[in-house]
Amino acid sequence: MSIKKVTHIDNVKLREDGQAVVILDQSKLPGLAEYIELENREQMYDAIAKLRVRGAPAIGICAAYCMYVLAAREDSCGDFMKKLREEGEYLKSSRPTAVNLAWAVDRMIDKAESMSDEADEKVLDALRNEAVAIHEEDMAMCRRISEFGLSVIKEGDGILTHCNAGPLATSRYGTALGPILLAKEQGISLRVFADETRPLLQGARLTAYELDAAGVDVTLICDNMVSSVMQKGWIQACFVGCDRVAANGDTANKIGTSGVAILAKHYGIPFYVLGPTSTIDLDCRTGADIPIELRDPEEIKKMFFCEPSSPESVKCYNPAFDVTDHRLITGIITEKGIAYPPFEESLKNMK
Ligand code: MRU
Repeated sequence: MSIKKVTHIDNVKLREDGQAVVILDQSKLPGLAEYIELENREQMYDAIAKLRVRGAPAIGICAAYCMYVLAAREDSCGDFMKKLREEGEYLKSSRPTAVNLAWAVDRMIDKAESMSDEADEKVLDALRNEAVAIHEEDMAMCRRISEFGLSVIKEGDGILTHCNAGPLATSRYGTALGPILLAKEQGISLRVFADETRPLLQGARLTAYELDAAGVDVTLICDNMVSSVMQKGWIQACFVGCDRVAANGDTANKIGTSGVAILAKHYGIPFYVLGPTSTIDLDCRTGADIPIELRDPEEIKKMFFCEPSSPESVKCYNPAFDVTDHRLITGIITEKGIAYPPFEESLKNMK
């Protein structure tokens, strides 16, 4: 796969007839690149909940297109807005942590509401345009985030990343992987260490796949090897994505991120969070206000193993995300620039 294809991966789109959302099924990668079509609300919910489409910005983009498809199906004689709101609440309940999902759904509902006096066709046109705008804005934001991210690293640096915040998780370039892919395009060489990211292996399956395909020097490590590679002096910066950033800078991201941040602090390595301003939720005062998704224990015990990896009866705790304390974060890199502590002030100004 060429670098161009990797930075411009077609992971979410509207089917030409506007009756379905087409997504690249990320749960099958890297073994199989299969596109699936989401035609009804159950398929849409399932695709988000089962991580067929994943990564906070990509979930938001997908949800916006889903809202358009669902709106186009509504009987205009009925209570259109009431039904649209119900569809929106249903989609939002598929995953609670990434604020981009609720943000995109609410933006679509606000658009429909603002046009309540217009003819049906006009409202649908506006909703389609709004979904396309959310998608295109994300492409531009990822590019800006990549540029700001690139400004804090230099040729030869070792970068550690957790989970997957690349083109698959967004639209183009990605957030945490954006500066790395941009560096590659500009002939700047970096060494990347990708955590495998238990239990769903987004780092191994998706980050390693994207970076390897782009020709980036990437080394896959198990999550418990982070301290070891930091201790050896191989890491000069950590770049991670985010699912929700609270007003004080506390950041929810894939489970395991906060541990990476604690280790980075110990070894004196800068720890950067990269994401669009749509991921900043000023309504959450601190990380304690961020809802953390709990997932099926089977993901720990059975997925990706030929045989179950532990006794059937054993209890599991499987949170999908954790919160990194703002005091561990060097900077939050957005499309508007880099927010530094005190985050309460810098994030407010940025929003
Ligand atoms: O459960 P996932 O795979 O959706 O978790 C994804 C992450 O934690 C990403 O780092 C985050 O959504 C940012 S993607 C640009």
